[in-house]
Parts: sequence; structure tokens; C-alpha cells
Amino acid sequence: MDEITEDAILRQGNAAGEAAWLDVIRKMDETYAELVGHQVELEQKNTALEEAHSFIGDIMAAMTDVLVVTGTDKLIRQVNRSLERASGQDGAALVGKPLAAVFEAASANALDRFIERLTVRTRVEDAAMALKGPDGGFPLSVNLSPITDHRGRVAGAVLVGRPVGELKKAYADLASAHDELRGAQDRLVRSEKMAALGRLVAGVAHEINNPMSFVYGNSHALKRYCDRLIPYVEALHRGDRKGAEALRDKGRIDAILADLPQLLGGILEGSERTRDIVESLRRYSSDQGGSREVVDLVQLVHTAVRWVAKGQRPDLIVSHDLPDVLEIEAHSGNIQQVVMNIVQNAVDAMAERPEARLDIACRRQGRMVELAFRDHGPGIAAEHMVKLFDPFFTTKPVGRGTGLGLSISYEIVQNHGGVLEAANDPQGGAVFTLRLPVEAKR
Ligand SMILES: Nc1ncnc2c1ncn2[C@@H]1O[C@H](COP(=O)(O)OP(=O)(O)O)[C@@H](O)[C@H]1O
Ligand SMILES: [Mg+2]
Repeated sequence: MDEITEDAILRQGNAAGEAAWLDVIRKMDETYAELVGHQVELEQKNTALEEAHSFIGDIMAAMTDVLVVTGTDKLIRQVNRSLERASGQDGAALVGKPLAAVFEAASANALDRFIERLTVRTRVEDAAMALKGPDGGFPLSVNLSPITDHRGRVAGAVLVGRPVGELKKAYADLASAHDELRGAQDRLVRSEKMAALGRLVAGVAHEINNPMSFVYGNSHALKRYCDRLIPYVEALHRGDRKGAEALRDKGRIDAILADLPQLLGGILEGSERTRDIVESLRRYSSDQGGSREVVDLVQLVHTAVRWVAKGQRPDLIVSHDLPDVLEIEAHSGNIQQVVMNIVQNAVDAMAERPEARLDIACRRQGRMVELAFRDHGPGIAAEHMVKLFDPFFTTKPVGRGTGLGLSISYEIVQNHGGVLEAANDPQGGAVFTLRLPVEAKR
């Protein structure tokens, strides 16, 4: 048996202690390594957080809209630079203050009430609010939405306000772009009108030629009569009774005198008709702006058909089912443009047909009038039906069609508070129906 000495006991104890120490040191090493790992991770997260923070900060600073973040306690948590500029106050100093520090009393009250009732679904859109600006009230259009914490509970609200001055400028820009577009459209309407007029020249020339030949023929007769009347009147003036009598017989002065009123009447009528044609041409081509006047639709339809048909399809057979007069309040030049385009399209559609027929019917339905034009052409192909009213859609060769007629007509009719529709007749041919209000919309 070993001798149990004090020395031996100490040795044994030392060995056990060393092992324990080694264990502790190993654990410490491990813990330290873990700690270092955590620290690196933390630093990485911190950098990412800082980046995100500065990213959000940059965005908030770059925003032209005013931004305020509040808690559910209605106290300011954060503001952006735009708000600092608009309110003339320091952002850091505003933190922890009530909304009344930046908003005018009425607006602050309204916002406080919204925040008191804040739920995840609360939204305020385009509310008119006023900021306390350095030079008095600063109008804003405010949107407010809730923010939630990581558990999805409402934690506060984000308020974004757009200076109304900027909104006004955006509206003004929009309005001027709209005006420009309108101007371009007006020019388009005019150019289509002029193009249509170009094709109508023959018809219109024919139209003017008729009354002018009246005037011409009658003036010729008058001139010949003068050759006989003058010597007769001169003989009368000289007191040469016998000579005058002879001239009266020979020149058949009595017949001339009986004929005179009719001749002059014819000249007058011819001149009046020419004047009317020139007047309707002027009305057609003039830009009346938005002004409305009383227009006789029946007269307008007759003129349109004559102008189009005379020059291009003199054999056009038109069956009318029209009253004597049908007056509506409209922009006559524009409505004439619509009707002429419909008639022109019908004539074009029947260009290949040996016989061209157009049925025009008109009826009044309460406060509206309905005009239907049915041609006896091939009708409208199904695949063209949807594109018919599109600008620049045409199936005609260059020089014959612009593809603007129906799109412009549609617009004109809509501006009058009416409708323009296209369909195919079950018996064949296309039908264009034009509905217009009797009284112009105000
Ligand atoms: N009565 C009709 N019958 C058949 N097709 C028609 C008729 N009217 C219009 N269309 C079709 O609609 C197209 C567009 O007409 P529109 O806008 O007036 O322009 P454009 O007459 O200059 O071609 C025509 O090219 C034609 O294909
Ligand atoms: Mg056309």
C-alpha cells in the first residue's frame, strides 16, 4: 500500500484542479469566439441599418412633399427637410411636440382627431390643411396613413402634404397641354374640312353655276331689250309720236314691258341663290368657335347632298323621309361637316355600283332628333367596325381619304351632346345614325 503522505494528496489534488482549469479555459475560448462572431454580425447589421437609415433619410430629404411622422400620442416623431423649409422650423426641435407646433389650429385639431381614431384602415386623402409658415398659412393637400409596429399594431401615422401651389402649377401645366392638344385638334378639323372641300369643288361649282346661268341669260335678254327700248324712249323724249309708235310696234315694246318684271325677278332670285350658297360655304369653312345658332337640319341635309352628289355622282338617287323644317341649336358649319362626310362616305362606298341610292330619314324623339343615312353599298366589314371612328383609319387610297372624317364627326357630335353610330342594314348597305339634342347643352 502506498504510503499516504501529504505530498501525494497534494499531487493528486493538483492534477484534478488542472483539468478543471483547462475545461474552464476552453469554455472561455469558445465563448470568446462566439462573442467575436456576434460582434462581427452586429457590426454588419449596424452598417446595413445605417445604410438603410441614410437611404431613407436621403429620400425624405429629397422629397418635395412635406412629411410628418407622429406616434399614437399625437406627438411628432420625425419631419423631413421639406417641412423644415415650409414651416421655417428646426426639425430636431420639433420632435416630441404636438402637431399644433407646425399646423394651424383648425388643421392640427382635425389631424389630432384623426389620429385619436386611428385604425389600420384609416386613410385621409387630399384633405385641405394649412401649415404654420413663416409668412402665414401654407396650404397643403394632405394624405394620412397609419404605421404599424412589428406586431401589426397601430403605432402612429405618416402625414404627407403636397404644397397646393405646386398642385396648382401642375394643374396649370396640364391645362396648357390640354389647350395645345385642343389647338392641334382644331387645326386637324380644319384641314379635314378643307380636304373635303377640295373634293366638293365640282359640286359647289355646279351649284353656283345653275343660278348664275339664270342671271347670265336674263341679263343678256335685258341687254337685247335695251337695244329696242332706248330708241323708243328717245323718240318719246323728242316728242316724235309717230316715230315712237312705229318703234313700239316694230320692237314689240309692249311684250318687253310685260316680260321685264319676270326677267328682273329671275336675276334677283339667281343672285339670292348664289349669295346663299356663298354664305353656306362661308359658314361651313369658317371657324365659329363654340357659338351655336338655330340650324335647319333639313336644309343642311339637302345642301350637303347636293354639294357632294352634283360633282361626283349626279345620278345619285336620294329618297328622303324628311319634314319641311327641323330646327335645332347647333354649330351649323360643324354639323354640315358631319353630314357631308356621311354622304361622301356613302357615295364613295357605292363608287363601283352601277346604281347609287341613299335613303335619308329623320324623326324627332322628344328632346332629340334622329337622322339616319342608309346607303346601298357593300356595308362595313366586321373587322373594320371597331376601327371606323379611329383617327386615320381609312380603306381609301391616298388623296381620296384622310381617315379623319368619322373620328372628327364623332367628336363634333359628342360636343353637341349627341351620338353617332354605325351599323349594317340587314338588307345590305351601311347605316349611319346621327342623334342630336334639339337644344344645345349649356
Ligand atoms: N358608308 C360606308 N360604307 C362602307 N364603309 C364605310 C362607310 N363609311 C365609312 N366607311 C369606312 O370607314 C372608313 C373611315 O371613314 P372616314 O373616317 O370618313 O375616313 P375616309 O373617308 O377619309 O376614309 C372609310 O375609309 C371606310 O372604310
Ligand atoms: Mg370620309
